[in-house]
Amino acid sequence: MQATTAIDSAEKASQKAVESTMLSPRFYTTDFDAMDRLDMSPVRADWDKMMAEYEGDNNHDHFQRDEQFGVELAERFEQVRPEMRQEFLDFLISSLTSEFSGCILYNEIFKNVKNPDIKQLMRYMARDESRHASFLNQSLKDFGLGIDLGNLKRTKAYTYFKPKYIFYATYLSEKIGYARYISIYRQLERHPEKRFHPIFRWFERWCNDEFRHGESFALIMRAHPHLLQGANVYWIRFFLVAVYATMYVRDHCRPMLHEEMGLDSTAYDYEVFRITNEITKQVFPVSLDIDNPAFKACMSRLFFVQQQMDAAKARGGLLGWMQRGRWAVSGALTFARLYLLPVNHHALPEEVRMAPAW
Ligand SMILES: [Fe+2]
Ligand SMILES: [Fe+2]
Repeated sequence: MQATTAIDSAEKASQKAVESTMLSPRFYTTDFDAMDRLDMSPVRADWDKMMAEYEGDNNHDHFQRDEQFGVELAERFEQVRPEMRQEFLDFLISSLTSEFSGCILYNEIFKNVKNPDIKQLMRYMARDESRHASFLNQSLKDFGLGIDLGNLKRTKAYTYFKPKYIFYATYLSEKIGYARYISIYRQLERHPEKRFHPIFRWFERWCNDEFRHGESFALIMRAHPHLLQGANVYWIRFFLVAVYATMYVRDHCRPMLHEEMGLDSTAYDYEVFRITNEITKQVFPVSLDIDNPAFKACMSRLFFVQQQMDAAKARGGLLGWMQRGRWAVSGALTFARLYLLPVNHHALPEEVRMAPAW
């Protein structure tokens, strides 16, 4: 399980954020010259409209606590079980790391490109992600577990991705981020008694930022249609499988978090997949067939493999090491099987932009 090492000090919280595993959020860097060559003229009208939305900044006053925040925190969160508390802290840290990962990437692109469209977009998105990261960090600070973001920026490993991989991966993580936050928000709107931490009240307007970030990448990709055709479709499939599988395994490592909200991890993840599949039709010509029993079997298998890997790691020694190797092979084969399953094909809609209507 993910949260086996108790997160009980700021140092451990920072270690958790810095660690690089298959499942932990990463930091990225890319080719800035290639970013400079992007041409947004094919989607100019949509682009300018979107820039005006960023400029309008309807969430500028959203990421501030209200008076109720402290009251709810004291009344409600103090009641949760210690193991559940650990899963929630793990959730806060991985969410903070993803938000901050976006913030750093967008800010680096902003600083290094000359292309005015891309520069402007990156400045707005870095602004939003910085607010999101700080708001999450405040909730860690409530427990004395605040993460030193400057230090995290210096010490965490960076992965280089070509711009097209950044577009596929970041588009997906923004849209899946929207789907995750809105599904939680709607559940807790129906069952306010299950809202064990006040931060969830912020999720609705928060995830509209993520939705818009995703829209920006959708426009970039639609302005460069070769990114969505030919051999690139195999990359799109790869990123869909990688992002869906990582989310599924990570979420199943913290079942109590979902239970506490009255959600079942599997049902929640499939709802998130369903919403993400609907949204990604705006730009991807393929989507994963999440109703295929083989898809479901592979997802469960990946979680099972992760549990075996964790058990082998805990066992340690030569035997543990050999078992980890065996399960790593099994995980890779399952991933390959998932990748090779038939996918659904779609024609791209004329109208690219979508509204966050879930
Ligand atoms: Fe964000
Ligand atoms: Fe975002």
